[in-house]
Amino acid sequence: MTDTVDDVDLPYDENATSQQEQIEVLQERLEVLESQNEEMRDRLLDANAENNKYQQKLERLTHENKKLKQSPLFVATVQELTDEGVVIKQHGNNQEALTEVTAEMREDLAPDDRVAVNNSLSIVKRLEKETDVRARVMQVEHSPDIAYEDIGGLDDQMQEVRETVEMPLERPEMFEEVGIQPPSGVLLHGPPGTGKTMLAKAVANQTDATFIKMAGSELVHKFIGEGAKLVRDLFEVARENEPAVIFIDEIDAIASKRTDSKTSGDAEVQRTMMQLLSEMDGFDERGEIRIIAATNRFDMLDPAILRPGRFDRLIEVPKPDYAGREIIFRIHTRKMNVSDTVDFEVLAELAEEASGADIKAICTEAGMFAIREDRTEVTMTDFKEAYDKLQRTDETDVTDSLAFA
Ligand SMILES: Nc1ncnc2c1ncn2[C@@H]1O[C@H](COP(=O)(O)OP(=O)(O)OP(=O)(O)O)[C@@H](O)[C@H]1O
Ligand SMILES: [Mg+2]
Repeated sequence: MTDTVDDVDLPYDENATSQQEQIEVLQERLEVLESQNEEMRDRLLDANAENNKYQQKLERLTHENKKLKQSPLFVATVQELTDEGVVIKQHGNNQEALTEVTAEMREDLAPDDRVAVNNSLSIVKRLEKETDVRARVMQVEHSPDIAYEDIGGLDDQMQEVRETVEMPLERPEMFEEVGIQPPSGVLLHGPPGTGKTMLAKAVANQTDATFIKMAGSELVHKFIGEGAKLVRDLFEVARENEPAVIFIDEIDAIASKRTDSKTSGDAEVQRTMMQLLSEMDGFDERGEIRIIAATNRFDMLDPAILRPGRFDRLIEVPKPDYAGREIIFRIHTRKMNVSDTVDFEVLAELAEEASGADIKAICTEAGMFAIREDRTEVTMTDFKEAYDKLQRTDETDVTDSLAFA
């Protein structure tokens, strides 16, 4: 097959035969070579055709692979491993289905496992055990105490939160006698580090109600139906533990204005919010459940969440004013060994744009200055230097959480 014309031995003895004979033999040889060539060309064509076929198959598989990776995945629970395949139950519509899996996948699976399935209900992967919402309830019960005294400069806001959350739970008869429905939800909004999360936690410690905390970001999941299921779980746990307060921190993660992008992730966030809205709409029959939400992106919220019957109390938690800043300085230095030179009024004036979190940072940093110089008493100079230092870091790092002007 690898013969080329150069390699071919001349099929005659050059000296012995006549020219005529030589020509004939050569012609014969040529014919043979031509027919061989023909055959080779045929084979090449066949091989090309084969190659094309494989190329197409490869493309198809690559495409399919990509589609499998991209298309939204649904969550299902394994019900049973049978000879014909695996019986799964889809979350959301509760439909059972039989699906085939590879032998390796099958070894991994057991009834009650949660799996991600694609559009055609093939199992794509096994999911880790979900952290139970119930476990989180326990977590909150043991959370470190934050009392109302730890919060500075938010007296009005505190009053309002207590009115809407604590009062209806502790003295429901008051509302009955007056004849009004207590508001079901409050939304705390304001710049970062102003004490919104603190306020909610303080309420949690004050009431005997079960306090269920969930961050908006925890509700955002990759898998279709997962976020909505968590929201349902959340309210179910609340109903089982009435009276209960549900606290959704950073609610903007699931309740942002609809964006134009049409990615499946966005759609999932939308679904989660719809579930939240529908749970809140069914509140009246829900008995003693209150809901507190917090956000520092009020401007981003979907107006749907602000409709009456949902969060009908909007409480702004602003940066502290002068008096507030002084109180917050006092709160965060309560346990510090502060020298008599420290003047909180001056500090409150100095840190004009500081939030509660900023003030806490200043106090900690002031303590650090003392420690660096091997002193146990924190002086006014320490506070001033701490303020300067934090303001400098803020200038160089725009994304820093410190929000001085
Ligand atoms: N009004 C305040 N009084 C006392 N301390 C405060 C106050 N506001 C904030 N702090 C301090 O700042 C920290 C952060 O506050 P918190 O987590 O409540 O802020 P936030 O408003 O929830 O912020 P974000 O919007 O970023 O979630 C608190 O742990 C506390 O130490
Ligand atoms: Mg917060």
